Parts: sequence; structure tokens; C-alpha cells
Amino acid sequence: LASVEVGLNGIEVGQAIKVSWRGKPVFIRRRTAEEIKEARDVDWHTLPDPQDDVSRVHKGKDEWLILVGVCTHLGCIPLGTAQGEPRGDYHGWFCPCHGSHYDTSGRIRKGPAPKNLEVPTYDFANDTTVKIG
Ligand code: FES
Repeated sequence: LASVEVGLNGIEVGQAIKVSWRGKPVFIRRRTAEEIKEARDVDWHTLPDPQDDVSRVHKGKDEWLILVGVCTHLGCIPLGTAQGEPRGDYHGWFCPCHGSHYDTSGRIRKGPAPKNLEVPTYDFANDTTVKIG
């Protein structure tokens, strides 16, 4: 399937889910206000792969962070989506393979991964449905 539609209804603030798109995991996280603030308070120009949080989410949909769940180092699936999994030093995701830490925008902050987690193409079909791809 070229694209996949995902219902967002059951996802509470602070929760994340993992879906599959083109054989890859995709993380959908509904961020808390604090997590958004944390992502925006940092001077992004100084980050390893400098990107503004605003450019990684859709305007007016700041709480929804959608990422390809593949570590940009050697392709492991980072932890931090399911309840209770470690989210790393920057409260986003942690890749246990070689210790890469991603922040609440999915940006690489520490460890060997060279790039931020990729943001796939997506669109909101309506307030409760997102179409990935
Ligand atoms: Fe994730 Fe190496 S594959 S840190």
C-alpha cells in the first residue's frame, strides 16, 4: 500500500503508537504541552542535525509528531513508543543498539546517529484521521 490511514481517536496526550507503512515502522506521538515546549526551547541551530521543531510538524497540529521509526545510524527501531519503554536523555526515543538519544521532536541529540528521525509525508484527512504517504 502506498499510503495508510490511521485513526487518532484512541491516542491520549502523552501516548504514542506504532503503525506500519511501506514495511517500515512509523511512530505517531501525541505530545504533551511540556514536550512541545522542550522541543522548542532548545536553540536548534546548535543541534547535530539542525532543524526547527515547527518544521517537523504540521501547523496547528503541534501535538502530533509523526516519524519513521528507523534509527538513522544502522537502522534499529528506537524505543520510546510503548508505555514504559526508555525514552532516553531527551525524553523522545532511545536506540539501544548503539545508544542514540532522540528528543521530543525526534531529533538526534546524543550518540552515533547522524540524522534526525525522518518525518514521512502525511496529511490530516480530518481531525481524527491521518493519512501517511
Ligand atoms: Fe541506532 Fe546504532 S542503530 S544507535
